[in-house]
Amino acid sequence: MQVLVINGPNLNMLGIREPDIYGRKTFADLENYIRGEAARLGVDVTLFQSNHEGAIVDAIQQALGRYQGILINPGAYTHTSVAILDALKAVQLPTAEVHLSDISTREAFRQFSYVSLYAQKTICGKGFEGYSEGLEWLAGNA
Ligand code: DQA
Repeated sequence: MQVLVINGPNLNMLGIREPDIYGRKTFADLENYIRGEAARLGVDVTLFQSNHEGAIVDAIQQALGRYQGILINPGAYTHTSVAILDALKAVQLPTAEVHLSDISTREAFRQFSYVSLYAQKTICGKGFEGYSEGLEWLAGNA
């Protein structure tokens, strides 16, 4: 099974950005963790990160016919992007949404997710482990 893993804006700053919320591990640590968990689960992953909404829309569109599932942490676009929601609805791939922090207990503006209007599974507040849980869910449901 092939899964496209998308990390959105500022996730490349992990380890530097707001360590009290996101921890001190770096984005490279996260990518290594995802690769390791994917290997353990027998899932083939492609890792993509962008700070640009349109680039994320392009990546989702290009996943059609190439991947059997999408694992996405849309970063701040979670709370603003109808375009990312529409791209997910267009390709209709099984999708798991992951957030390192628990967005349901943070600022009011983080408590709504456009992506959740399509994603079949959402995992929040479990740090890196959320990515593993998302891959596991996709492996069993895609
Ligand atoms: C995040 C939560 C978002 O609200 C925030 O904008 C991020 C990261 C998370 O992983 O907890 O960039 O998606």
